[in-house]
Amino acid sequence: MVHIKRKELFNGRLLNYLKNVRFSSSLQAQDRVRPQPESDNSFKYADLSVRLAPPHLLQPKPDVRDLVFGKYFTDHMFKVFFHEDLGGWQAPEITPLESLVLHPASKALHYAVQAFEGMKAYRGKDDKIRLFRPELNMQRLNHSAKRLGLPTFNSTEFIKCLSRLISIDQEWVPHCETASLYIRPTVIGVDPTLGVATSRSALLYAILCPVGSYFHGPVSKGVSLLADPSYTRAWPGGCGDSKLGSNYAPTIHVQEKAEEKGLQQVLWLYGGDMQLTEVGTMNIFMFIINEEGEKELITPPLNGLILPGITRMSILNLAHEWNQFKVTERIITMEEVCRLTSEKRILEMFGAGTACVVSPISNIHFLNQFLHIPTMEQPSPIYDMILKSLLNIQYGYVPNHPWIIKVE
Ligand SMILES: Cc1ncc(COP(=O)(O)O)c(C=O)c1O
Repeated sequence: MVHIKRKELFNGRLLNYLKNVRFSSSLQAQDRVRPQPESDNSFKYADLSVRLAPPHLLQPKPDVRDLVFGKYFTDHMFKVFFHEDLGGWQAPEITPLESLVLHPASKALHYAVQAFEGMKAYRGKDDKIRLFRPELNMQRLNHSAKRLGLPTFNSTEFIKCLSRLISIDQEWVPHCETASLYIRPTVIGVDPTLGVATSRSALLYAILCPVGSYFHGPVSKGVSLLADPSYTRAWPGGCGDSKLGSNYAPTIHVQEKAEEKGLQQVLWLYGGDMQLTEVGTMNIFMFIINEEGEKELITPPLNGLILPGITRMSILNLAHEWNQFKVTERIITMEEVCRLTSEKRILEMFGAGTACVVSPISNIHFLNQFLHIPTMEQPSPIYDMILKSLLNIQYGYVPNHPWIIKVE
């Protein structure tokens, strides 16, 4: 315990002390997603049961050209219940895709006790299906679940169950390299009680949907962003580093504002100095000429305000390995973006995430002015080099890559 003298209460030092504790803990270390110790009380793959959909209920597979994100679902789903009173996790099952029956008092419906993940399975040129760093999605889901008072599970057991689900619905994994199978693991609190409390009953489930390429045809135009400092997505001590449904619902209205202005995405800012945090549902990167005249790739740090993206981490890993330019994780402010734009020192900006891998940025609408970012004018842009490198790993062009788990 830190001893605080009574006199200090009255001269403002306590307030400053408390401010420092809050910021140093939330912005520096505590909110980083650290691997949780794996749960011993997890459900087990060995207990998985499978109930297949009868042939007359199997759905026709949509044409890859007609794929719309999250519209078509495969024939089966994964489910496992957690009931504290029955000893914790129950036996996992794969069933036909079916509606859920929830008590109307379920915590998920009242207090947004819901966390989810977004990951993909890719069919390679060798017809093998691959998962990209799935253990990181599992770690992040456990981190999110913990933040909501939901039970955690063993990552390896869940990956084995997901692999079985994908292998049952394997024909749904598109047979081309412009599409993939999106995997949506979700965990919700289902106790039939209205108390704001730890969930004693939960449901972890996963559904699958084939998704097309984020970009239709070659990427020829970058996206335009709305940077409006009157909106904030996350704050110190909040949940910006967790993937909770409750982080996303409040962004819809702001996204609508962007679309009304003819812009595609929101650039989320934080604080008086207007720090860039995320772009839409992606992490943000900026490639510049720095004060020393060197090329530098910069992305905001994992300080609790941003989701620790798996694509973000993979880009940082690749960039460090390439060692062709400086790589830095640090705060970027709008003041810096405006200054570097006027000095023509920003070469590229792009968003990064599972959905599109990378999404080049061309314009930022900020306080009634347009900042043009010349990402699409670079002769050999690094966003493209990153995009191709990640796709090559995901679609199996790099043999035995350590980030890949094959679905057997
Ligand atoms: C808010 C937010 N930031 C970043 C990302 C990118 O994360 P990942 O690369 O793990 O898909 C996502 C996507 O899940 C997101 O929703």
